[in-house]
Amino acid sequence: MRNIILTTCWVFGTTVLFAQNHVSLHADMATTQISKHIYGHFAEHLGRCIYDGIYVGENNSKIPNTNGVRNDVIKALKDLQIPNLRWPGGCFADTYHWKEAIGPKDKRRHIENLSWGNYREDNSFGTHEFLDMCELLGAEPYLAVNMNTGSVQEAVEWVQYVNHANGTSYLTDIRAESGRQKPWNVKYWGIGNESWDCGGSMTPEYYVNLYKQYATAMTSYSNTEKLFRIAVGPGSPEHYHWTEEIMKNVPARRFEGISIHHYSVIDWSNKGSSDQFSDKEYALTIQKAWFMEEFVSKNSGMMDKYDPEKRVALIVDEWGGWYDTDPEGKGALYQQNTIRDAMIAGLTLNIFNNHADRVRMANLAQTVNVLQAVILTKEEKLILTPTYHVMEMYKVHHDATLVPAQVISNDFVVDGKRIPAVSVSASIDKSGKMHISLTNIDNTSSQKVEIAINGYKAGGVSGRILTASKVQDGNTFENPKKVVPQNFSDASISNNTLAVNLPQNSVVVLELVK
Ligand code: AHR
Repeated sequence: MRNIILTTCWVFGTTVLFAQNHVSLHADMATTQISKHIYGHFAEHLGRCIYDGIYVGENNSKIPNTNGVRNDVIKALKDLQIPNLRWPGGCFADTYHWKEAIGPKDKRRHIENLSWGNYREDNSFGTHEFLDMCELLGAEPYLAVNMNTGSVQEAVEWVQYVNHANGTSYLTDIRAESGRQKPWNVKYWGIGNESWDCGGSMTPEYYVNLYKQYATAMTSYSNTEKLFRIAVGPGSPEHYHWTEEIMKNVPARRFEGISIHHYSVIDWSNKGSSDQFSDKEYALTIQKAWFMEEFVSKNSGMMDKYDPEKRVALIVDEWGGWYDTDPEGKGALYQQNTIRDAMIAGLTLNIFNNHADRVRMANLAQTVNVLQAVILTKEEKLILTPTYHVMEMYKVHHDATLVPAQVISNDFVVDGKRIPAVSVSASIDKSGKMHISLTNIDNTSSQKVEIAINGYKAGGVSGRILTASKVQDGNTFENPKKVVPQNFSDASISNNTLAVNLPQNSVVVLELVK
């Protein structure tokens, strides 16, 4: 019935009457690079993300590790080619004092994790451990500065400690005594985190003045590489004026990016189970995930008013699904990861790719054992989640050139509201191969998609798919490979037009060769 009834469909957010999914790709208009940093991650001192999930300590763990970092985690993240990692929070960063976590470990001051359960941390994972791990992973570190209980001086000294040349100051001497002579040259710095809430409950006007103090002092040295400073932007539509306030009042030479946060959560007071959810809860979560399109577009539009050349990057440094904590995971914000999360990841990454002219970094929350994690651990066991597999399949878009896509999609109806069933993004990599990533969020029907390709002569097509019979399916420690990518053969090409049949609740990545 679906194909013979004219339904309301989507073209760049405009509604038109049409009866099938149709995509036009314009390789002849491909100019924007999709920054690999869109595929970044976030690791906070929260639950079992850092301690136990990533860091098990050098001495007493039976889990194989390199300088205390689990070898299985290192391998999984290297395979994923994670481009950057944000640390130490999140809200944790808003009360973090970096100097307490350097020097001999037995002398480090223990702290109370004020944001996430008030439990005691021994600070054995600090600046050296994090930055050395990033080097091992080949990932750019992204540090979040404490703008709430910290000070401008503390932030300035962190920049000196990690970026200034050996022998230039008291702080670089301490760094050398702690085993590191050459600087790490950290480029990405977040100045504050959620300053409208856990980061200090500030007004945007107050934040902007304070931000200018931090941003000015952190860079008033010729002794550091140019920093990429990221200001705190909105975490919901009520905060849109934060973007306006920053764009209007912070001089261009004082900032390079604005961050926004958006979680796909049904209801903050009733988030629902991560793997025992109803079809209705599934649909509501996906609707929240689709809101990212509007959130990015509106922020980007406001930035255009002051910055039509798009100098300032929009950084989505927290995103993902958020459900009730699963007590079996034994850690705050631990949740299972299912095909629902694969759908969130697939469609969100398509949104970021399609906005690559403005969105130049993003960080999935969070890497291990927290929220929409790519990795779950249980003692010496590790599993890769459906979200991991989507990130791995989408690696082909890292630093590739975006191919503009015009999409007409059938509807998926949620609570009487319509969202597109199909999402698409495409790019051409350095070797000239085109990749097209598609999601069908509809968990009741497959979707036929016709893709017309302009400006690229396609010779053949191959593909991979991630799906399962139910959206509640995921990988468990007992069955770790239940949901893994498979070869996909339901795509054919004729006259430069692809015919693709997307099974229900699936993520597909196609590769075209000339
Ligand atoms: O990612 C979990 C938390 O969500 C972060 O600490 C905070 O910034 C956000 O509210």
